[in-house]
Amino acid sequence: MSTPSLIHPLQIGTLALPTNIIFAPLAGCSDFPYRQMCRKYHQGLIYCEMVKMEAIVRSQATSFRMLHYSADMHPIGAQLCGSNPKLASTAAKIIEDMGFDILDLNCGCPVDKVTADGSGSGLLRTPTRIGEILANMIAAVRIPVTVKIRVGWDDDHIIVEDLVRMAELAGAQAITVHGRTRKQGYSGEANREWIRLAKQQSHGIKVIGNGDVFSAPSALRMLAETGCDGVLLARGGIGQPWLAEDIWHLEQGLCVSGRSADERRRVLLDHFEAALSYGGDAQAIVDMRRIGCSYIGRLPGGRRFREAFSKASSLQELRELIIEVPMEE
Ligand SMILES: Cc1cc2nc3c(=O)[nH]c(=O)nc-3n(C[C@H](O)[C@H](O)[C@H](O)COP(=O)(O)O)c2cc1C
Repeated sequence: MSTPSLIHPLQIGTLALPTNIIFAPLAGCSDFPYRQMCRKYHQGLIYCEMVKMEAIVRSQATSFRMLHYSADMHPIGAQLCGSNPKLASTAAKIIEDMGFDILDLNCGCPVDKVTADGSGSGLLRTPTRIGEILANMIAAVRIPVTVKIRVGWDDDHIIVEDLVRMAELAGAQAITVHGRTRKQGYSGEANREWIRLAKQQSHGIKVIGNGDVFSAPSALRMLAETGCDGVLLARGGIGQPWLAEDIWHLEQGLCVSGRSADERRRVLLDHFEAALSYGGDAQAIVDMRRIGCSYIGRLPGGRRFREAFSKASSLQELRELIIEVPMEE
């Protein structure tokens, strides 16, 4: 008997996805050019960065820009952050009307500014409110509604299993579990045991595993060890838009040997051009200082590149750096 495939199509409510690999919402990173790059290697779901419910209801232009997408970016997801159940339904309807395929509620953001009003991972301290917000969103839209959580506020308050039950009861179609507490921030390792326990609680709600998936083998380990239905790529996708393709290749038994410095350079140039045509010259210079380091900064020789990149002040300089900086492999 052959072992079932770890990478497979995934049905989330009415949304049929070709693969169970998903690109995460990433504030300040999963912008239009980033999503364009991921789409080159991946047919499945990609999220825009989180937007605040209040900002959407108030029609704030910068938030709408974060949600800008092109027709070839479907299937595409939006994520709302906020703690007001009434605003949640109004904002959800606006998101649906914008043509999004799926809508997620953020219950994981650890940033103080976000948790201060009870939003993001602040909601982990008022779990019944999560159920209330989800129920309101679900009543307002026809697209699938999902939720993304950390496992609890701190080690003394692990509520992941309760949250799976509550989300399922409210009618959410999937729950993404980041295997860390709020208190942990990004320290330590994401605990896969909690993701496994979340999956055990599920009676149908899809469980997406999240945390520390930086390579193809770690994605397959996440799926195999936890039994989760899908895997979310977050920091692992930054500077590696090909990660979903690598995972697919590995699952097919193909050799995944890591991308060469030359290939990273080539893809970075593509990303650079995408940022330039989307955001214009001044924005592209700012963006490319960040993006350039994520592609090459961690490789041997990357430190020199990082320093030079952070000082570059013109598009020409950045282009030359990408092409010319010597890199040991
Ligand atoms: C720069 C950055 C921005 C993020 N923005 C969001 C966001 O907008 N919404 C969200 O739910 N999570 C956000 N996250 C959390 C990730 O989606 C993910 O849950 C977390 O990084 C753990 O996964 P990883 O260890 O694979 O990176 C962000 C993380 C990073 C590093």
